[in-house]
Amino acid sequence: MKKYDGWWDGFFPAFRPIFSKVPARVTNAQVRFIREKLDLRAGRTFLDCPCGIGRIALPLARTGVRVTGIDITQSYLDELAGKVKKSGLKMDLHRQDMRRISLDSKFDACGNLWTSFGYFEKESDNLLVLKKMFRALKPGGKFMLHVINRDWIMANFQANEWYQSGDMKVLENRGFDYAKSISTDVWTFIGPEGSSTHETAIRMYSYHELISMFERVGFIDIEGYGSVKGEPISRNKEQMFVIGTRPRR
Ligand SMILES: C[S@@+](CC[C@H](N)C(=O)[O-])C[C@H]1O[C@@H](n2cnc3c(N)ncnc32)[C@H](O)[C@@H]1O
Repeated sequence: MKKYDGWWDGFFPAFRPIFSKVPARVTNAQVRFIREKLDLRAGRTFLDCPCGIGRIALPLARTGVRVTGIDITQSYLDELAGKVKKSGLKMDLHRQDMRRISLDSKFDACGNLWTSFGYFEKESDNLLVLKKMFRALKPGGKFMLHVINRDWIMANFQANEWYQSGDMKVLENRGFDYAKSISTDVWTFIGPEGSSTHETAIRMYSYHELISMFERVGFIDIEGYGSVKGEPISRNKEQMFVIGTRPRR
């Protein structure tokens, strides 16, 4: 059987221009939804893991939330640190693999947002990420996972897609490993400085599987939404926002 691992190292620095594919109005609506669903008021603590270039972390910090960001891509953390400094905000930033964080009972809320989950071939590693998030929460704290819905992928599978993102042309050739529920994509980035090709392998989940994983880790009061409007998850919804609470005792 094919092996997948470590693909993120070369992929993410090259992926940088794709952040501009997400319009500001989409990010703003997500930030509003996150604040509402995770009870994030000024002064509350939030762990954004992985934080990327601060797409969500920065606007949350602007509302007075005390944000900690963790990511593995140093160039993203450097870019975010520069923006934080320029805007006079404060943010704790750390370079770390999301499987290795050891922050216990520190945060009112945590988020793993925009398809940053399912990166590991070993299912125990993906579960470990959830465990780390659970442990990082204070008792009563809430965690949000935001991923693509496997059931939507199956209903809308598109093997090839190309689009423009900033000054980069992107071609995605998609495959699917049904034995492992892993989306296997080959990305070609064509930019002003040349082109590069990268492979990604991301485990895709249906809602019921995520519920089982959340329960296994110890989350209670699990809720799922198919959009930031609070619509239910179905095969017609591309996104899933799954929320769990760490019990108070
Ligand atoms: C699609 S981006 C999402 C970033 C951010 N959550 C957002 O909503 O904009 C995925 C992020 O995961 C980070 N990443 C990839 N593998 C990682 C790992 N093993 N540990 C921590 N971060 C990782 C990448 O550097 C990238 O910033």
